[in-house]
Amino acid sequence: MTITQPQTPEEFEKYYDLRWRILRKPWNQPKGSEKDNKEEKAIHVMVCEKDRIPVGVGRAHFNSAEEAQVRFMAVEKNMQGKGIGAALLKELEKKSKEKGAKYIILNARDSAIPFYEKYGYKVVKQSHTLFNSVVHFEMKKEL
Ligand SMILES: CC(C)(COP(=O)(O)OP(=O)(O)OC[C@H]1O[C@@H](n2cnc3c(N)ncnc32)[C@H](O)[C@@H]1OP(=O)(O)O)[C@@H](O)C(=O)NCCC(=O)NCCS
Repeated sequence: MTITQPQTPEEFEKYYDLRWRILRKPWNQPKGSEKDNKEEKAIHVMVCEKDRIPVGVGRAHFNSAEEAQVRFMAVEKNMQGKGIGAALLKELEKKSKEKGAKYIILNARDSAIPFYEKYGYKVVKQSHTLFNSVVHFEMKKEL
């Protein structure tokens, strides 16, 4: 499985579109809601099937010199359960560590908690509830 980073505006468009379709559209959230104000400095990774069309995406940004945060992990529905999410997560951890992160935090939807637990993340506390329905839990992993 090859992990790359989106480079061109066209690749970024497809990258954000996958994020939106998996993480925002099911809750009727508009295009644009899949981005925050940390995109420019963040680490973006993707797995592509062919023609550099992403089937899995993920992002990490720094909250401080030591604290990196993983956000916006999304795998195409018919490609879930094939190891893509795990590969993306490991790559984000590697790149964050290379840039000096000592630990990673993330806010997981309750449905994704077992996935992150599998890779060493532990629930710290319940965090926010998105769109009045998606309960999230803060998780942490020392690198
Ligand atoms: C959560 C998500 C990113 C995981 O990616 P994925 O490619 O489906 O996961 P993988 O195939 O790499 O899974 C790796 C392992 O975790 C397990 N796993 C994955 N998702 C799981 C889940 N929701 N519950 C329990 N186990 C899970 C897999 O069974 C696999 O275990 P195995 O190696 O023993 O077979 C992906 O399913 C997804 O995009 N889900 C919808 C959006 C979402 O919830 N994003 C996270 C927001 S916090």
